[in-house]
Amino acid sequence: MDNTFVIDNPMVTDRLTQLRMKKTGTRKFRSIVKEISSFMAYEVAREFPMRDVTIETPLCTTTQKRLEARHIAVVPILRAGIGMASGFEEVYPDAVVLPIGIERDAKTKEPNEYYCKIPKNINHFHCVIVDPMLATGGSITYTLKLLLNAGAVNPVVACILAAPEGVERIHAEFPDVHIYCCAVDSHLDNNKYIVPGLGDAGDRIFGTV
Ligand code: PRP
Ligand code: URA
Repeated sequence: MDNTFVIDNPMVTDRLTQLRMKKTGTRKFRSIVKEISSFMAYEVAREFPMRDVTIETPLCTTTQKRLEARHIAVVPILRAGIGMASGFEEVYPDAVVLPIGIERDAKTKEPNEYYCKIPKNINHFHCVIVDPMLATGGSITYTLKLLLNAGAVNPVVACILAAPEGVERIHAEFPDVHIYCCAVDSHLDNNKYIVPGLGDAGDRIFGTV
């Protein structure tokens, strides 16, 4: 799976196991989603260009690296993506946040758009789509189309859990898009839920189970 980067870190894997547990309540679930997301934000930052800067340390003048001052846009897919956005905002405090409202239709599992406000200068931003679940890939491919049609350049995807079906769909439709995730699970069930998965991410983050 070229262009898919699975974050392999024992702390993340441990937290992810807690997210998977049925007994993990809303408060803990939300805080772990935020914690994992902050970690992911550091990993995703590998996508951002650096520039050389000459600085003074207490000892000498030296040339070192800083992030290029291009803007970052965190693009959470409502509603579960909001849980991840809070973790990304901690690491990218100057990022703009561009929520996109998409809900899977309960029967067809196809994405339904209900909110979208993308600025005209989106091409000036590094866009990071955040959504805990990449299942069929319908919601994320829809969001990628919205962003690319609006002029976004090289958007990146960050999800906590992915299904092989969703990863393959994104790679088939957008071969250049990089996907960061914490695990690629086994498969989708008949209801298009990720197995073993963690259940309905939105319900677990917002306490609507
Ligand atoms: C979930 C999840 C993703 C989508 C993944 O959201 O957060 O957005 O499903 O499925 P897909 O890859 O098959 O499109 P949902 O539509 O349940 O909405 P919610 O976040 O409001 O609960
Ligand atoms: N949406 C979720 O919240 N969980 C899944 O497993 C699939 C889609």
